[in-house]
Amino acid sequence: MAAEGKDGIARIFERVLRDFRPTYNEVKAAESVSNDLMLRLKKALPRNVEIILAGSVARGTQISGNSDIDIFLLFPREMKKEEMEKEGMKVARGVIDRKRGESAVIKYAEHPYLQLISKKPPIKADIVPAFKIRDSFERGSSVDRTQLHNDFVLKHLSTRQKDDVRLLKVLMKFHNVYGAEAERGGFSGYLCELLVHHYGSFSAVLEAFARLRPPLCINAKERKTISDALLFRRFCSDFVVIDPTDKDRNVAAAVSKSALARFVLVSRMFLQNPTIKFFYGVEYSDERSTAKLKKIAAGMGTDAYFATFKVPDIARDIIFQQLAKFTTRLGERLAKSHFEPVLSLYNAEGTAAVAAFFINKGSAASVVKAGPEVFLKDAPNAFIKAHRLTFIRDYRLVSVDKAAYRTPMGLFRDELRAGLPSYLRGAAIRVNMVPEKHAKLIYRKYMEATNI
Ligand code: UTP
Ligand code: MN
Repeated sequence: MAAEGKDGIARIFERVLRDFRPTYNEVKAAESVSNDLMLRLKKALPRNVEIILAGSVARGTQISGNSDIDIFLLFPREMKKEEMEKEGMKVARGVIDRKRGESAVIKYAEHPYLQLISKKPPIKADIVPAFKIRDSFERGSSVDRTQLHNDFVLKHLSTRQKDDVRLLKVLMKFHNVYGAEAERGGFSGYLCELLVHHYGSFSAVLEAFARLRPPLCINAKERKTISDALLFRRFCSDFVVIDPTDKDRNVAAAVSKSALARFVLVSRMFLQNPTIKFFYGVEYSDERSTAKLKKIAAGMGTDAYFATFKVPDIARDIIFQQLAKFTTRLGERLAKSHFEPVLSLYNAEGTAAVAAFFINKGSAASVVKAGPEVFLKDAPNAFIKAHRLTFIRDYRLVSVDKAAYRTPMGLFRDELRAGLPSYLRGAAIRVNMVPEKHAKLIYRKYMEATNI
């Protein structure tokens, strides 16, 4: 940590916090919107429904520019789930004040909730119906557990540690590993809070991840690490952070291997050379992305195949899951036909979705396959009969057949015809040329992926 030293690091943190700790005005604006909304909700709800402010705004771990409010309506556990949701959504819809320029969209996580959009001040508020629970024994959904998360964080994090959570979120955000959505596969806000609690400070989190070698299991409640092979098998993951409010839940379940790897690398590089630029994203322009992608493809000696789709305006998570599935499956099929993609990327926005495959130029006329050893009694005959041309290589038979696809194009066409995930519609394939709208989506993902 050459010139900077410990003081230098502290100065960097202060500087970043000055930019990302929400300002007094921002906090006041969020407070006034949430107080006002909670009052309106209270008037519309029976007295046995509790209204709480949850999420990072309530906990003081929000980062500036992201003071979106999470309000939970806690219904008595005795109610039927459908009834609770119906009633909650009805009341939430009822409090929208269009005269003040408020509007709303219905969203779906595990359950439906309402997102209220206020224009002045410009703030979004999620109104989420849930059950009132005191303990995870009451078997709530993950939405119901949020109130318990709130209690835990408020009780265990100091003011200094809340700022540390902000630093962690900012660093992760600019390295594209913040957020548990399918698109990111990264660290949730609550996970950041638990990591700071467990290790004690932001620097301690960085130091731990800089030398991490999975598996890692954290018991956040007792601030202990556990090494128990059974546990990793139970959670099907080698990165486990047990929820202090529910021992059966892995708070890190959404973290993908590549997000974890990226964060390890970022932690180590920052500690080796602590500079402020780690906390700010790389600036780039996505103007003329079509041309930029052409250059990138040419630089790798590949062709770029683009599959474009029209998607309905539904939960982003579902679209990204389907795009991921499509891209993986097609990548595997391409590899089997000797067209393994050098790089594949996908993205979606609004009703546009696109997957891009960068594939080495050239064609495949023949495919080679290793067959049985000649010492077997029947298999060699069958193998010779089944193939166009057969050689002997060492003890084995080797076949040469005409490739089913000379170029990737035929394979793409067959794959699109064979059936796609349900929401990927209106498929089209293009080579090295794609409308600017789709090119931008892919170029941004390219910049994220290569920002190491
Ligand atoms: P948010 O996604 O709004 O996260 O979920 P956050 O903690 O407020 O962080 P930022 O600053 O907005 O990004 C609100 C609450 O819902 C629960 C957590 O308790 C979280 O604080 N939650 C959300 C989860 O437990 N897991 C998730 O994947 C998402
Ligand atoms: Mn939030």
